Amino acid sequence: MPQNNLKGIVLAGGNGSRLSPLTDSISKQLLPVYDKPMIYYPLSTLMLMGVKDILLITTKRDQALFKNLIGTGEKFGIKISYEVQEEPRGIPEAFILAEKFIKNSKVVLILGDNIFYGHDLTTQLVYSASKNYDATIFAYRVQNPSRFGIINFNKENIPTYIEEKPKSSKSDFAITGIYIYKSNVVKYAKKLKPSERGELEITDLNNIYMKEKKLNVEILGRGIAWLDTGTFESLQDASLFIKTLEMRQGLKIGCPEEIAWRLNYIDDRKFSNIAKKYVKSPYGNYLRKILRESN
Ligand code: TTP
Repeated sequence: MPQNNLKGIVLAGGNGSRLSPLTDSISKQLLPVYDKPMIYYPLSTLMLMGVKDILLITTKRDQALFKNLIGTGEKFGIKISYEVQEEPRGIPEAFILAEKFIKNSKVVLILGDNIFYGHDLTTQLVYSASKNYDATIFAYRVQNPSRFGIINFNKENIPTYIEEKPKSSKSDFAITGIYIYKSNVVKYAKKLKPSERGELEITDLNNIYMKEKKLNVEILGRGIAWLDTGTFESLQDASLFIKTLEMRQGLKIGCPEEIAWRLNYIDDRKFSNIAKKYVKSPYGNYLRKILRESN
């Protein structure tokens, strides 16, 4: 069952410095990943989980652009609120900024540059969120562990500790950019001290939960794709991945209008009006086609 009591955060600030000059005047998360803005993918992941109340955290510079694109969320049948992160002071700062938004709810945070795709992914995410853990993180096997936060396991497969970008590592399991916490995350985040690079570290936050035996680690299997889009290569790879699947199946990945319509957040008339707005774009053709096929 979708989680109606679960709130969502999309963290879409950051400098995007590895993508400059592309990001000199616009947020990384507004850049295209094939046929839609990057932010649509993490937003879609939350929508597929049934999350309808979402806080979008951006830089001050880019907030107006995100508002132009997504607005109040009404067109997707959801509620979007906005918050500014003045400087990229680390992922856990999102929870401090979101204190009033989170209140007593469980919350799922997704990074604005992370793309998840795969069979049964939504089922796994929703099921994980329904469990009674204080914190749940998702690990995924990677080829180059030194680029990620890596989780180590003992012989009994019990998680032992998380290391940030280890030079060498026995484990190949990276922590992905989707995290689920109970509302006590605000209290835990406030206890963190900035690291040497001046950021609050999500690894430190998760290690505290782990020490207190309150951390659940879920493995995302090989049937799932986890892509991040922070470099020229990974951005291009993600675009090609989406293009390949969309061309093959004739179905779109990460299309919030379609998800809203399929979940009955918006009716046929509203959906059709959105499609009309995109009359000259294949995106609009697609929306019209799936509507036609359903009638
Ligand atoms: P990063 O890729 O670590 O940082 P970045 O996006 O600023 O890019 P670069 O390293 O090239 O300068 O961030 C991962 C995601 O998390 C991305 O979607 C931005 C977001 N983020 C924030 O919004 N605020 C933060 O303080 C941090 C650390 C990340």
